[in-house]
Amino acid sequence: MKDMVYAYEYNGGDLCYPGTNVLRNKLDIHDLEELLRVEKEMSMARYFDLSTQGVTGDFSMGHLCAIHRYLFQDVYEWAGELRREDISKGTFRFCPVMYMEKTFGDIHRWLEANHFLVGIEDREVMASKLAYVLGEINVIHPFREGNGRSQRMYMEQLCKNNGNFEINFAKASNDEMLEASMYAAVCEYDKMTALIARCLQ
Ligand SMILES: Nc1ncnc2c1ncn2[C@@H]1O[C@H](COP(=O)(O)OP(=O)(O)O)[C@@H](O)[C@H]1O
Ligand SMILES: [Mg+2]
Repeated sequence: MKDMVYAYEYNGGDLCYPGTNVLRNKLDIHDLEELLRVEKEMSMARYFDLSTQGVTGDFSMGHLCAIHRYLFQDVYEWAGELRREDISKGTFRFCPVMYMEKTFGDIHRWLEANHFLVGIEDREVMASKLAYVLGEINVIHPFREGNGRSQRMYMEQLCKNNGNFEINFAKASNDEMLEASMYAAVCEYDKMTALIARCLQ
């Protein structure tokens, strides 16, 4: 299985170059493969940089947006902005734009009720709570592109906030993450829990 390019529904303001599925970008790259390569390189450098910075927000949607803005500041004018288009991959439709903030609010309240995971020492407990959060945030998919990297950084910061764990997503492949995400999207969290347990140290 390979991660796909988003299908999207025009919803006022097209972010792609006309007649293509290539997102307009600061480097004015019109070739999809080339954009993916450069985007990966630039966001990766920012990702490592942000990894050294501890917890950078309060785990609100604004926090996730700030993470996205930081990671993609070199590539997209709209870095850090919520999407305005409804999007899907394959047959899966991500959260409609009109419900994104409400749904994120539900997760944030759940995190609040769970003390933002502070105090958890048991690896399985930590893994299952992180799997729930990651699965739900992934279904929201707040951004037009770059959701995976932004939500993984948010997860890293939840671990830093907890203090007992670090998470290294390099221990899971993209294919495994995709499969676990697809199961989590239908509220079957076992695969995501197992994946995360493996990445926790
Ligand atoms: N059909 C799907 N159902 C659920 N999650 C999916 C689906 N397709 C892709 N994903 C998840 O979306 C994330 C990728 O989102 P994307 O916005 O492309 O971010 P990035 O480019 O940073 O990887 C991955 O975590 C992947 O597992
Ligand atoms: Mg992507």
